[in-house]
Parts: sequence; C-alpha cells; structure tokens
Amino acid sequence: MAKFDNKVALVTGAARGIGQAIALKLAGEGADVAICDLQAEWLDETAAKIKELGRTSRSYAVNVVDSAGVQEVISKIHADFGHIDILVNNAGITKDNLLLRMDEQDWDDVIAVNLKGVFLFTKAISKIMIKQRSGAIVNVASVIGIIGNAGQCNYAASKGGVIALTKSAAKELATRNIRVNAVAPGFIKTKMTDKLSPELQEKMLAIIPLGRFGMPEDVADAVSFLASDAASYVTGQVIKVCGGMVT
Ligand code: NAI
Repeated sequence: MAKFDNKVALVTGAARGIGQAIALKLAGEGADVAICDLQAEWLDETAAKIKELGRTSRSYAVNVVDSAGVQEVISKIHADFGHIDILVNNAGITKDNLLLRMDEQDWDDVIAVNLKGVFLFTKAISKIMIKQRSGAIVNVASVIGIIGNAGQCNYAASKGGVIALTKSAAKELATRNIRVNAVAPGFIKTKMTDKLSPELQEKMLAIIPLGRFGMPEDVADAVSFLASDAASYVTGQVIKVCGGMVT
C-alpha cells in the first residue's frame, strides 16, 4: 500500500515551483490532489503530471486572500472528493524593498497572501477536519521568518507569522487529532528566486554548508513526511530545509 492511499490532499499555489513539486510528491505516494492557484488553467501542467502518476486531480481557481472564495472552494473540494485529509498552505509572494522604500501596499499584499491566506485556509479546513477527527496541515514558511533579511521586512514578518500561527493552531487542534506543522525552506531554485541578481545568488550560495541551492523536491520530501503517519507524534514543529544555512 502506498503512503497516501485513500488520502485527499489540497495544495495551494500548485501551478509551479515548490507547490507543484509537493502536489506531485503526494500524488506519487498515492494521494488524490485538489490543486489550487489564481487561475485554473495555470494548473494544467501539474494536473497532467498527476494524471501520468495515475492519480486523480482537480484544478480550482482561488485567490487565497478572498475569504468568501476560499470558503467556496473548500466546500467544492469537499463535495468533489468526499474528504480532505491533508492541507498544504504553499501559495506565497515576495515584494522586496528596503524598509524606508517599502510601499504600504507592498506590505499589505505580502502579509495578505502569505499570512492571511494561511489563516483563511486553515480556519475553513479545520471545520471539515474536526468533523473527520483527523487531518494534517503543513504550512510553507521560510528561514527568513526565523532569521530575518534586509530588504524583506514584509516577507519575514509574514513567514514569522506563519510559524507562530502554526504553533498556535497545533495547540488548538491537537485534541481533535489534527496536526499542524511547517517547513522553512532556505534558498530553493524556483521562479521566485530566479529573479534575484546573480551577485545575490552567489552570496547566498557561499553561506549554504551543503554547497548547493535546494530543489523544490527537497521541500516536497519534508512536507510528505509531516503530512504522513510517520509524523503522527509531530505537531507544532518547523523543519528547516535549507542545506544547513540556518541551524
Ligand atoms: P512561485 O512564485 O514559483 O510559486 C508560487 C505559486 O503561488 C504560484 O503558482 C502563484 O501563482 C501562486 N500564488 C501566488 N499568490 C497567490 C494567491 N493570492 N492565491 C493563490 N495562489 C497564489 O514560488 P515558490 O518559490 O514555489 O514558493 C512557494 C512557497 O515557498 C511560497 O510560500 C514561498 O514564500 C516559499 N518559499 C520559497 C523559497 C524559495 O527559495 N523559492 C524559500 C522559502 C520559502
């Protein structure tokens, strides 16, 4: 029997990058996957790859900051699949700038997508998982939420908030057999990090003890562990997936 046989997973921001790798990893281990992103057609590549793995997927358009939309999409996924066992809050954005130059709008946008989005999805799914009396939630934070970073006050605050939300929700939901954990990736090669200058990428590489950037699959492996029964005694924790950059 595969690790996630008969399990349904929901992954946000699954069109590309880390979210796509997570959706494929869980499908590869037997889960059916509800994949969400801003536009349903962006999910076509992920959906096709899940199909190749022999699992079912369905694509849903949702903006994670839209509270009514989140509620609606979760109800739809629940109706379509019958249950939701795993939630991966992965959708996230950056709008970097030094504090003195940071627009208020860029602050609000990053906090909304990265932090409020996690709150809305976690709240809506909790109602379903409480009725099921089981569930696993994995939030994609960042090591920047632990150590901070010049030029990323908004992003660091949002990811630090995700870690605090993870620990609090874990304490609230533990008695209902719902576990809530986070991964904190370091520098992972995706479209989000491709836009950083070559100089900055060089600087980052120099401080990674394992001597390479992470791949989306490295993060997906940790998410798979936290979502699985192998982590049945693990809740409220943050696993850093950063090549030893932050210890
Ligand atoms: P990405 O930019 O390649 O993918 C993010 C996905 O989220 C995209 O498909 C995008 O359309 C979707 N998305 C963005 N805003 C959304 C919204 N409002 N509603 C629904 N979907 C939305 O980024 P990447 O690198 O794959 O990052 C995924 C997660 O990992 C993010 O939360 C990011 O902060 C986190 N992370 C990434 C690191 C990296 O080095 N790439 C390091 C640490 C954390």
